[in-house]
Amino acid sequence: MMKILIINGPNLNLLGKREPDKYGKETLEEINRELHRHAEEYSIGLETFQSNHEGEIVEKIQTAKDSGVDVIIINPAAYTHTSVAIRDALLAVNIPAIEVHLSNIYKREEFRRHSLISDVVAGQITGFGAKGYFLAIEAARDLKTKD
Ligand code: DQA
Repeated sequence: MMKILIINGPNLNLLGKREPDKYGKETLEEINRELHRHAEEYSIGLETFQSNHEGEIVEKIQTAKDSGVDVIIINPAAYTHTSVAIRDALLAVNIPAIEVHLSNIYKREEFRRHSLISDVVAGQITGFGAKGYFLAIEAARDLKTKD
């Protein structure tokens, strides 16, 4: 069975309450519940993880290999723009990854237009709200069938 790990970074635990005009009204719990239902339909093993701590995200990526994760879907949130450590962790484990952002990061402030992971992931989905995670699962299924 294919295994996908979805990682969400800082402040995404506040989804629904946090700037809903930019990030939507759904809570992370609601989104995750739908994602688990969706994954089940496709017989995909799904783990969802959120942390506000950079080191915890790094450790989660590091252990993904031993947990048999085939594809990582990651929204590093603010760490997208700052974290060399998360970039290095993705490179270290060598597991294909897909970058997701709820908002279109290229439509916003200058500092959000640069992602430190975009050149080490298979692809990026940005600007489609929570739907981006579902699109990423679709893309992950194709990535998996390629090997
Ligand atoms: C975000 C975009 C980031 O710039 C921001 O810091 C976030 C969320 C998004 O999903 O649109 O926290 O990753």
